[in-house]
Amino acid sequence: MAKIKGEISNDFCPQALYLYGNYEEDGTPHFGLFCWYGWCWLGEGSGKLGVMACIGEEKRTKDLIRRTGMFSANLVNEPLLPLADYYGCVSGRTTPNKMKRLPTVERGQVLDVPTIAESPVSLELKVVKEEALSKGRLGPESSESTLFLCEVVNVTIDERLTDKSLPVIERMKLSQPVSSMAEEAYVNFFGQELAKWGEPMKSL
Ligand SMILES: Cc1cc2nc3c(=O)[nH]c(=O)nc-3n(C[C@H](O)[C@H](O)[C@H](O)COP(=O)(O)O)c2cc1C
Repeated sequence: MAKIKGEISNDFCPQALYLYGNYEEDGTPHFGLFCWYGWCWLGEGSGKLGVMACIGEEKRTKDLIRRTGMFSANLVNEPLLPLADYYGCVSGRTTPNKMKRLPTVERGQVLDVPTIAESPVSLELKVVKEEALSKGRLGPESSESTLFLCEVVNVTIDERLTDKSLPVIERMKLSQPVSSMAEEAYVNFFGQELAKWGEPMKSL
């Protein structure tokens, strides 16, 4: 294998997609699609799994996280992809009726956040720190990149994924997670390209 100098990017570094959920003030669930997501450890010993969520320019998802101090992160699987693509390509700020399309919404077990029944894993996240990573324009159209450091306070998981009599890879096939690794393409973890961004939502 010959390696050449590449552009600064995270291409071909696989990362699953998540739908972040929150409630609007009137109780309507809201979802947006995100991939700049990572794990961290917040405490000592066995406590406090953490999540690093990076959100770019101002958007409805960021407004709601700032208002409530919490959100859910729902792992995107192949059956959810059309809806996830829609939530990623349609802006909540400029499309007030974005949430005319909804998955099966369940209320979080610990936090007041909407979770998605069809998602194999849903995490309930409490923000512990907000950090501005870049100084964009100020005001409502700010392009600031923001890091939300969160504590995972609850996890709900498809019970089939906890069946240790099945090999991990078989359970991964059941969960069908989706990634977006390069060139605006959705891929699965089993060597298949699924679609380009903006395509799966057309089937809704
Ligand atoms: C595959 C994919 C991944 C995305 N990941 C991120 C991300 O990690 N951070 C971000 O700020 N926006 C990301 N977006 C863009 C948001 O999903 C988009 O801004 C969407 O409108 C957010 O919903 P909202 O406007 O209702 O908040 C992504 C979009 C797609 C299609």
